[in-house]
Amino acid sequence: MKDEIILAIESSCDETACAILKNGTELLSNIVSSQINVHTAFGGVVPEVASRLHVENISYVISSALEKAGVTMDDVDAVTYTQGPGLIGSLHVGVLAAKTLGFVYHKPLVPVHHLAGHIYANEYIAPLRFPLLALVVSGGHTELIRMEDDMKFDCVGTTHDDAIGEAYDKVARVLGLGYPGGPKIDKLAKEGKPVYALPKVHTDHPLDFSFSGLKSAVIQSLGRLERHGEELNKADMAASFQEAALNEITGRVREAIELYHPKHFVMAGGVAANSRLRELITAECESHPDMTYTIPPMWCCTDNAAMIAKAGWHAYKLGVRGDLYDSPDPGLELESFEPSKEDA
Ligand code: KG4
Ligand code: ZN
Repeated sequence: MKDEIILAIESSCDETACAILKNGTELLSNIVSSQINVHTAFGGVVPEVASRLHVENISYVISSALEKAGVTMDDVDAVTYTQGPGLIGSLHVGVLAAKTLGFVYHKPLVPVHHLAGHIYANEYIAPLRFPLLALVVSGGHTELIRMEDDMKFDCVGTTHDDAIGEAYDKVARVLGLGYPGGPKIDKLAKEGKPVYALPKVHTDHPLDFSFSGLKSAVIQSLGRLERHGEELNKADMAASFQEAALNEITGRVREAIELYHPKHFVMAGGVAANSRLRELITAECESHPDMTYTIPPMWCCTDNAAMIAKAGWHAYKLGVRGDLYDSPDPGLELESFEPSKEDA
């Protein structure tokens, strides 16, 4: 049987990425050009700078991915890409590159939701089993997503304000740790103890999250210490914030598992790289022996195009198609695939 080859493009935030996937399983190449060093100088992602760097990098990333995979555009069967959500200027670059390739080489286009990509990244580690529960934790997202089947998504919990990664980055900034804050707090917290009292978060919906109150509580504590002339122990504050934030996440995961009894639990997104969250989630999942769980390695957690290729492969096989009139959608909703009447 002829090999089926997917070319995937991701450019929703500050990584310009292209990957080539063969027959849905063999990752032939996975090129990621990170802009993080540039944004670090500004203390966070600057959207206009991100868009410009995507424009500079996209052609190089695509040609490197093809070259490393040892294939040409003639071998490619479909072009898949992140349509949203993300930064509008960043998304535009990837979507335009995908549409150009589709148009010039007459290839079908397959739009993909960024979060579907994060979830499907786990398929590089283990086959997904349904019903599945995914915890997506990144700079832009904090979501609990239930899946009954391939490409069937049901968001059962979300944040009311900041995403968890955003909260890490903001707290790191007020502690003077620099950007990106997540890995810095993760490391520093190991040297401290959670001795500072921070409030427990309350949300009306039992599976929802909220982190802005926690972030404000950290800022207020810093102000109080300063007013009283007391010295701040940064490691203890990092540990206090981290324990409060991650206990909230683990608590919601526990409730969701008890409510939905998934066969498989997966983690996804940049914050899934957090060493303490991995510990807490492992302990939680170990107490459910009937459930499989996957805690993906670092390369699967952060933004890349291999994850878009996996989600794109399933979408392609189900018949999802985009066209040259498609636009990037920064607020794209995660919708389930529904076969059209003609397909049924
Ligand atoms: O998934 P990702 O690469 O990009 C988005 O789609 O947002 O996630 C980036 C986020 C940043 O907020 C970063 O601070 C956070 O992931 N992050 C971490 C860790 N490593 C990255 N947060 C906590 N602990 C970490 N070890
Ligand atoms: Zn992401």
